[in-house]
Amino acid sequence: MAFETILVETKGGVGVITLNRPAQLNALNDQLIGELNQALDGFEADEAIGAILVTGSDKAFAAGADIKEMAAKTYMDAYKGDFIASWERISRCRKPVIAAVAGFALGGGCELAMSCDFVLAADTAKFGQPEIKLGIMPGAGGTQRLVRAVGKAKAMELCLTGRMMDAEEAERAGLVARVVPAQDLLAEALKTAEAIAAMSHTAAMMTKDCVNRAFETTLAEGIRYERRTFHAMFATDDQKEGMAAFMEKRRPQFRNS
Ligand code: HXC
Repeated sequence: MAFETILVETKGGVGVITLNRPAQLNALNDQLIGELNQALDGFEADEAIGAILVTGSDKAFAAGADIKEMAAKTYMDAYKGDFIASWERISRCRKPVIAAVAGFALGGGCELAMSCDFVLAADTAKFGQPEIKLGIMPGAGGTQRLVRAVGKAKAMELCLTGRMMDAEEAERAGLVARVVPAQDLLAEALKTAEAIAAMSHTAAMMTKDCVNRAFETTLAEGIRYERRTFHAMFATDDQKEGMAAFMEKRRPQFRNS
């Protein structure tokens, strides 16, 4: 499939999506989100893919929603067109999705990164929700996911001041899983994604589902959901294979079944 605003490639069991509007610092317009969603659909349908990597350039993961595209919108445009609803696709992805962030991840860019399962950051990464400086507010989960990631105090400060947070602060605050030197970001992200893709895909999907459940439910219900899902794993071939391989001191050959 020919895309104009993203690059899509497969590296082993990993689907790699590179946001590619360099002249606009990967500002997220309708076309890019549409292409991103198509690429995600393709990787979700591809049995060989076990993990997805979303990245940008050295300068910007994404500097936000495309301000020039948004500027003239009316309330009716936004309401009738259900503006931003299509951005939710990535958070509904059943396979693990990693964001590899270098440079700016601002506004919708920060929200896109937070919609992935975890963020690996280059030491050059800068995160922020600067929408307030444009006379608006975050609209793709920023007021919700940031609070869950870094707590109310920091999320409120970031959303109300629009200031940027560097990679080190983002890691300390819990927004980022790990910070690596910028020149190692892609290799490290790919290594991490390949390690995940080499696991049982079904086990990874069920694990992700359960971790995400923690945000949606009470502890007691979450534990119950986890236990039911855990029980279900004993119906999979991969559980038999994983445990047999351990006992036979060999590498498991997962069949994702
Ligand atoms: C459209 C953008 C853009 C954006 C940058 N560009 N960010 N175009 N939408 N969000 C364009 C610039 O207009 C410019 O193009 C080119 O990219 C390079 O940007 P510069 O500003 O010249 O680069 P620099 O001086 O390095 O500054 C980088 C920056 C700054 C600090 C990231 O570009 C910036 O503040 N961008 C806006 C960040 C922002 O407010 N994001 C939130 C958007 S609202 P030209 O052609 O002019 O040279 C949002 C809402 C989300 O995300 C809610 C729902 C989705």
